[in-house]
Amino acid sequence: MSAQYDQLGEKLTNWDVLPVRSEYLEGHTFFKALGSVKGRTVLDLACGDGLYTRQLKARGASRVVGVDISEEMIRSARRHEEEQPLGIEYHVSDVADMAPLGTFDCVTAVYLLHYAQSPEHLLRMCRNIHAHLKPGGSFVTYAFNPGFSARGPNSTRYGITMLDFPESPRDGQAISAELHTKSPFTIHFSYWSQGTHERTLREAGFHTLTWMRPECSPEGVVRAGREFWQDYLDNPHAVALRCER
Ligand SMILES: C[S@@+](CC[C@H](N)C(=O)[O-])C[C@H]1O[C@@H](n2cnc3c(N)ncnc32)[C@H](O)[C@@H]1O
Repeated sequence: MSAQYDQLGEKLTNWDVLPVRSEYLEGHTFFKALGSVKGRTVLDLACGDGLYTRQLKARGASRVVGVDISEEMIRSARRHEEEQPLGIEYHVSDVADMAPLGTFDCVTAVYLLHYAQSPEHLLRMCRNIHAHLKPGGSFVTYAFNPGFSARGPNSTRYGITMLDFPESPRDGQAISAELHTKSPFTIHFSYWSQGTHERTLREAGFHTLTWMRPECSPEGVVRAGREFWQDYLDNPHAVALRCER
């Protein structure tokens, strides 16, 4: 399922412009959940082509390492690094099987946990994330919203449509979403309930789990108006989750 990102190539290049990926919404919520990274070490998992990895460095993190299962995504991230060196190190690996890379103040992951293919895969991911954190460190993720409702507004006007989303999704159920970029494409992932996320993260050793619904920044309200964002905020496709080690 994860090798799908190797095939997407060009199609991914313009998905960052979708409203759903906006700095006013996704970026704002993710960085609010994360807090300051100035002088801190950060491991960015499922880093893709390094969109957030580079921002973490720009926000003053002292050491940033990116990991992604897709060779294609890491090739693209390394190309950025060659063109504008920031001192970021990138590795290709499934988070569940990641060899030790040291311990970090923070581990981040924007869109990772819903790519776990089984409860066992999810647990191995969470254990490995825990193992890469210093005591007292935090894992901050932004991922598919376990509370997304088939009855609520779909996110089509924001750039993503959940396809045939079930009324009562089961753990591990296959979910597909269409991304409305210039060349639309479909992504596939698995549904994990809030309870399964929480049980698995606690079993991996995390405590104090805090969910955060997306918020729109004041700049986003000025740009597009509160009404524009409201349907999305009523039924967001993704949420932030902060977990303390
Ligand atoms: C939606 S993209 C997000 C990329 C990046 N975080 C961003 O926000 O631009 C999801 C990424 O997760 C990666 N991925 C999926 N399963 C993974 C796994 N088991 N281990 C590491 N990366 C994984 C994919 O290759 C893809 O690059």
